[in-house]
Amino acid sequence: MTAPTKKIKPLVAGNWKMHGTGSHLRELGRLNTSLSKHKFGCDVAVCVPATLVHRLSAMKFGAKIMTGGQDCHGAQKGAHTGDVSADMLKDAGAKWVIVGHSERRAEVKRGGHGETSKLVREKVLAAQMAGLRSIVCVGETLAERKSGDTLKVVGAQLRQSLPDTCSAGDIVIAYEPVWAIGTGETASPAQAQEMHAFIRNLISKAYGEVVGNSISILYGGSVKPANAEEIFSKADVDGGLIGGASLKSADFTAIVTASKS
Ligand code: 13P
Repeated sequence: MTAPTKKIKPLVAGNWKMHGTGSHLRELGRLNTSLSKHKFGCDVAVCVPATLVHRLSAMKFGAKIMTGGQDCHGAQKGAHTGDVSADMLKDAGAKWVIVGHSERRAEVKRGGHGETSKLVREKVLAAQMAGLRSIVCVGETLAERKSGDTLKVVGAQLRQSLPDTCSAGDIVIAYEPVWAIGTGETASPAQAQEMHAFIRNLISKAYGEVVGNSISILYGGSVKPANAEEIFSKADVDGGLIGGASLKSADFTAIVTASKS
């Protein structure tokens, strides 16, 4: 059987990280207004802090601005003080959850949570069970890139983070080179394309070409209005995961409208 030609609706997702209290939701009201004035062909989601998930959902932007969380626990429930389960996010109105972000994979002494790919996989499974779509993040550090280990590192993260069943309906991959996050330095469009093609090829080999050709692969790392269109124009880049620039409705609108449809 021949695999279908790649046809994917792009996704542009914001990641607010640990920014934003209730008053910042006004920015999403502005985003909603400004998106109404533009034509765009991608899906849009904003992954807000857990405290804002329910409040964003209650703003009823529906499919225009979908709500996402930024992490979930791997268990459905239990004695895990301070954690949020995938079911809880879903109940609060989330459609999406980011898992395995490099800021969570980072060592505890660097402010991260030391999350392993094995743990990330448990979280993806929990999200699948809850009916949430996961944005699974992978990416190499600068030291790993410099030592020529990029493909080995990203390949291992993917193989270990993804569950046995994986479909475009429940999983999106985000390639986020750690050295490009919040640094103002972006992967060149050619570097992004090379990594995205590598990821798609790996997914095709593991899950079949139908999955490989239909799974969205987002780029993340210092995407701005000025560079979005060039990065998004690459064949295997199906949208972006946007940090800092998602906090400002004007910048985020410009990035959304730069997406191919
Ligand atoms: P920046 O866009 O701020 O570099 O962050 C990218 C990111 O980490 C999105 O998850």
